[in-house]
Amino acid sequence: MLNWIERRTGFLSMAKDFLTEDVPGGASYWYVFGSATLFAMIVQITTGIFLTFWYAPSAATAWESTRAIYLNPFEHFVLSVHYWGATAMIALVFLHLLQVAIFGAYKAPRELQWIVGVLLLLVTLALGLTGYLLPWDMNAYFASQVSLNITGTAPIAGPLIQNIAQGGGVMGTQTINRFFGLHVWLMPALLLLLVGAHLAIFRHNGSAGPVADDRRGLKVGRFWPDQMFMDTVVSFFVFLLILILAFVAPPFFDQKADPTVLFQPYPAWYFLALFGMLNLFPPQLDTLATIYIPTLFLVIVLAIPWIDRSMTRSFGSRKGVLWGIALVVAVIVGLSVQSQLRIMTLQGQNPPSLSEAQILAAPVAAATPAVAPAAATSTGASGTTASASAAHGAAVFSQNCASCHGAQGQGLPGTFPPLANNPFVTGDPSKVIAAVKNGLHGAVSVGGQTYNGQMPAWKSQLSTQDIADVITYIRTKLGSNNASPVSAAQASK
Ligand code: HEC
Repeated sequence: MLNWIERRTGFLSMAKDFLTEDVPGGASYWYVFGSATLFAMIVQITTGIFLTFWYAPSAATAWESTRAIYLNPFEHFVLSVHYWGATAMIALVFLHLLQVAIFGAYKAPRELQWIVGVLLLLVTLALGLTGYLLPWDMNAYFASQVSLNITGTAPIAGPLIQNIAQGGGVMGTQTINRFFGLHVWLMPALLLLLVGAHLAIFRHNGSAGPVADDRRGLKVGRFWPDQMFMDTVVSFFVFLLILILAFVAPPFFDQKADPTVLFQPYPAWYFLALFGMLNLFPPQLDTLATIYIPTLFLVIVLAIPWIDRSMTRSFGSRKGVLWGIALVVAVIVGLSVQSQLRIMTLQGQNPPSLSEAQILAAPVAAATPAVAPAAATSTGASGTTASASAAHGAAVFSQNCASCHGAQGQGLPGTFPPLANNPFVTGDPSKVIAAVKNGLHGAVSVGGQTYNGQMPAWKSQLSTQDIADVITYIRTKLGSNNASPVSAAQASK
């Protein structure tokens, strides 16, 4: 039977060829990171396929279907394995790259293998980033909003890419669908393609072996059975660790995303270093931390094979590179620890209002239409034209503005400026009209705080009357705002 298949396909000799590959210097536990990453990827694909059976991507169903997953013990466990599998995979890719960098295994002829490896790290991070949004709970929403806004600040194509990834001016079903498409289809396809290339190049060059200047004395080991045994042992322990963590520490599931509430988002651990760096810079220099330094760092990492000009891979001849690696690792770990501590302090000040058990136990509310603030209903006898327009303005506000500026115009730190108690809003009406009609971008400062985001232009979305009324509302009803109303005639200028 096997012979029959072999004669028609050549599969057996292919497998034999694969397994009998040489391992210069003999098998070693130093070489297990690549195969363990591959194993973690298989765990992710398997659990990920299951999750797509249960998850429904849209603003009305993403959180609800995730909640249903949490309520089913088996589904909850699969989700938890997927969560810890992601952590394992990213940690292993980092360790794999680090080992290759320390051993100088990127040196000729393996430069392209290094580059493909770095691209694999980027795809893995993109998978983490896109997966983070999908549960559509508070942190998923607000953390993804931060990453989308960062994308928007990139030079040239930033705003366009943000708009495409977000699927329009505000986050919603389109955003979930795009992240979902990237997460379950485009990124995995890229990942498999790059893994294929990575392994093919690996086979072509053979394994790099130990750091030794004189290669004649090296004994030659075989992949099968020695290296294969070590790889299997490590993958087994990785799997065991993922299962234990999934069992004892499933990820927290918060309330459904509510853009009108104040929330302090926190990033996944693998973005903590970037998050920490962002805090080192004043707001005007944010793009340095979020765009320029990471890009420069990436270019340097990609160019390591050419930066490291030593003739051999020995540690002695590569002192500069090794110190550089040590420094980078120390900075990344330091920044990550520092921002984790900061986040824990912030979370301590603002603990989640409900426990997960309470969130899961609450009956799912029927989709309630946004309720206009009380002013909307107070069209009464006292109704001057100003308060009538403010009443209509309240409805316009809750439908168009509250999603970003908050139901009470309280804003969101860092991104959406408050409109309540904001001197700009109660100041020169023509400036407020211009801002609402034409939109705003770039940083604005209110009460010493800086806000940076995109304010859509409303002139083609709302009628002149709506614009006048909503401005009247924000100038007269939010917080202690008490400025003059705005008429349609003013707004039409
Ligand atoms: C998609 C989110 C979003 C929506 C929806 C939105 N805004 Fe804004 N708005 C912003 C952002 C972000 C800024 C700050 C702009 C910047 O960073 O340059 C802003 C700024 C403003 C400002 C200027 C505040 C200042 O201190 O400079 C006013 C006034 C304003 N918005 C009114 C409105 C009104 C009225 C609506 C509804 C018709 C609305 N916004 C809807 C995001 C939004």
